[in-house]
Amino acid sequence: MSATLMVQDQFLLHNWHVVAHSQDLQPGTVLQKRLLGEDIVLWHNGDQALAWQDFCPHRGARLSLGWIEKDNLVCPYHGLAFNTDGKCVLVPATPDQPPPARACIQTYHIQERHGMLWVCLGTPQNDIPAIPDWEDPSFRKILCGPYHFNSSPLRVIENLIDPTHFAFVHKGIFADSRRPEVTHYDLESHPDGISFKFGIWELDPASGDPSAPMFFATYQYRLCQPLLGYFQRRGDNDSCMNLFFMVTPVDEEECVLSFWVVENFLYKIPDSAFVAMENQIMSQDKVIVESQRPKRLPLDLQAEVHLPSDRYSIAYRKWLKQQGVTFGSI
Ligand code: FES
Ligand code: CO
Repeated sequence: MSATLMVQDQFLLHNWHVVAHSQDLQPGTVLQKRLLGEDIVLWHNGDQALAWQDFCPHRGARLSLGWIEKDNLVCPYHGLAFNTDGKCVLVPATPDQPPPARACIQTYHIQERHGMLWVCLGTPQNDIPAIPDWEDPSFRKILCGPYHFNSSPLRVIENLIDPTHFAFVHKGIFADSRRPEVTHYDLESHPDGISFKFGIWELDPASGDPSAPMFFATYQYRLCQPLLGYFQRRGDNDSCMNLFFMVTPVDEEECVLSFWVVENFLYKIPDSAFVAMENQIMSQDKVIVESQRPKRLPLDLQAEVHLPSDRYSIAYRKWLKQQGVTFGSI
C-alpha cells in the first residue's frame, strides 16, 4: 500500500531528474527530497543509493526521519524495518510474526551519473546524455550549484536559453550593454529536442577590465529534455566552454539548478574564483527570474509579448506544448 503518485505530467514523470549531488548522500545517510511535487527519501546502504516514496504505509510517517540499521531503512514511528526491495522485514512489537505483505514502500529508479544522483518516478524513456569534452584531459571540469529558485523550472530554463538578457543582467561580468546585439544562426526543433546557435559580444572574464575591447563568441545549444541541456561556447584560438545544465523540478514554482562547466581556456581563473563568478551570475538571474509573474511559464503564445529575438524561447514553449509538458506552466 502506498500513497498515490500525484504527478499529472506524463512527460516529466518518465524523465530522469537530478535530485542531489552524489557527495551529498554518503553511505549510511538518509536525505529528504522533493521531486515533481512528491516527497522522496534517499538513503545509501553502503553499496547503493536508493530512492523511495517518503511515506510509511503503516501510519503515513516520513521515512526520511528514520535511520539505517543492518541494510534496512527503519521508520521513526513504530520501528518497522524495510529491506532494499522496500519490503517490511520486521515489526518490532510482534517480532515473531511475519509482516503483512502489503507493508511495502513505493520504490523509484535511481542511478548515479556525472557526479549526480538521478531519479525517475515513472518508467525511464531516455538515457541521460553525455557531457561534451568530458573525457578530454585538456578540459577542466567545475561543478556549480545547487542554485535554488522560487520559480517554475521552465522559467529557469528559459532564462538559460535567452541570450538577450546577458548584456543587461550580467553587464560587466561577461557581457556589456555597449554590444547587446545578437547574431542568430540555425534553429531546429525536433520531437526529441531543440538545437540552435547564436553569436554575441563578450568581455574577457580573465582580464577583469569591463572597458576592455569585446570579443565575438558563438554558442551552440542543445536542449535534450525539457529541463536538461548544454551549450558549447566557442571563441578565439580553439577556446571552448561547455555548460551542462540540470534543473530539478521540486514543485511547480520551486526548482534547483546545477551545472557542470567543462572548459579549456580560462586557466588563469582558479576553480574557487570561477565558482564565485558563477555564483554571482546566478544571483543576478535569481533576482530577475523570481520577480517574473506569473511564476509559471505561459505556453499560450498570446500571453506575453514576443520579440524577433525571442525565437528560442518561442520554440521552447511550442515544444513543451507539443510534448504535453504541464508541470510549472499555465
Ligand atoms: Fe511507520 Fe508506524 S508509521 S512504523
Ligand atoms: Co543569466
